[in-house]
Amino acid sequence: MKELIEKIEKKLDEYIPVIYPEEIFESMRYSVLAGGKRLRPIMCLEACRVLGGNIEKAIPTACAFEMLHTQSLIHDDLPCMDNDDYRRGKLTNHKKFSESTAVLAGDALISFGIQLIIEKSELPAETIIKVLKEYALAAGAYGIIAGQVVDIAMEGKPYNAETLEYIHTHKTADLFKAVLKSGAIIANATDEQIKAMNDFGQNLGFAFQICDDILDEVSTFEEMGKTLGKDKNAGKLTYTALFGLDKSKCKVNCLLDESCDILKRQNINSDIFNKIISSIKEKVNR
Ligand code: IPE
Ligand code: IPE
Ligand code: MG
Ligand code: MG
Ligand code: MG
Repeated sequence: MKELIEKIEKKLDEYIPVIYPEEIFESMRYSVLAGGKRLRPIMCLEACRVLGGNIEKAIPTACAFEMLHTQSLIHDDLPCMDNDDYRRGKLTNHKKFSESTAVLAGDALISFGIQLIIEKSELPAETIIKVLKEYALAAGAYGIIAGQVVDIAMEGKPYNAETLEYIHTHKTADLFKAVLKSGAIIANATDEQIKAMNDFGQNLGFAFQICDDILDEVSTFEEMGKTLGKDKNAGKLTYTALFGLDKSKCKVNCLLDESCDILKRQNINSDIFNKIISSIKEKVNR
């Protein structure tokens, strides 16, 4: 895991130059290189590896998805969205630069990811198109944006489990599914294996977002690198707001058990996937 993170960070640094107009590249680099767990690129590389692919071929795609994820964080933190001052232990992009630069840095990261997949992937054109489809679906109004729109629209509104599942699926699980499926596509996996990665990503991503909702109530700034306790004040439709802490923990455990079962059914034995699952489990059950 540590080696993979180092590899990803080195490449992210290498891929984003500082050229004219410097402010936009500095701003993109500021948020992308601020740290973060790098879960999405790790999952992309690991899906590729366990399904028999060469992870070197998946590096540009893995990094592109980390750029897309970082964009979603920069925009999520804007004053017109969640209005956050800290991210990854540092000032948010708009606090460090300006709101206009943060909006543009996010926009630039989405297209930079696409550019990276096209320019740097040494893959057949057909594979690149399939990966770009996953990227586009996750990035746009069928994916993260759909989740974010409903997340904002539901602030302070009456709670409803169906809407909550919609929000968590789109704002978080869709990107998990996209990175895992892309890793599988690069490995030339079968349709059944790609479908298994989709289902694994749905369960894991949903569990991950419920865990984030729980940690917003019980964790610390030091652990998370962002201001916590904000969901309640903002009247966010979160899993904990709807079901309380205990039921939320049970739901995370169930989703993680199902994630493990999906891997078992495919005979996938991955220390890295197991580590990701167990770290979420530890965080919610301590
Ligand atoms: C934060 O994701 C956004 C959510 C989906 C909850 P991460 O917790 O993976 O953030 P980083 O990448 O480690 O900063
Ligand atoms: C994360 O939801 C969703 C995206 C960033 C797309 P949150 O708003 O709960 O994420 P944090 O808690 O700010 O990281
Ligand atoms: Mg949000
Ligand atoms: Mg937020
Ligand atoms: Mg949150």
